[in-house]
Amino acid sequence: MPRPEKHVFVCSQARPPGHPRGSCADRGCRDVLDEFYFQFQQRQCFDKVAITATGCIGPCGSGPNVLVYPEGVMYGPVTKADVAAIFDEHLLGDAPVERLKVPADVW
Ligand code: FES
Repeated sequence: MPRPEKHVFVCSQARPPGHPRGSCADRGCRDVLDEFYFQFQQRQCFDKVAITATGCIGPCGSGPNVLVYPEGVMYGPVTKADVAAIFDEHLLGDAPVERLKVPADVW
């Protein structure tokens, strides 16, 4: 397996109803993760990008959150409609999508 150039971590954390932190699952991360996998298939970029569903990555209140390495860029809240831009501009174009980043005081 080639080492990916970009590794995308999509928070998929769920918490019980009424939990004070809420979760990315409450905010629709499943749709976001599914869209990442769909776009991944469409672009056939298996040697460049890896996608991993992960547990909580920190700022639950700004989710669904997505973290991209090696840059350590966090996006949030990400919607299904944002995924194509993250793919084309950042993962394949190497330019992080400034408008989708979480605020600097969050990450
Ligand atoms: S639940 Fe997604 S960042 Fe905490």
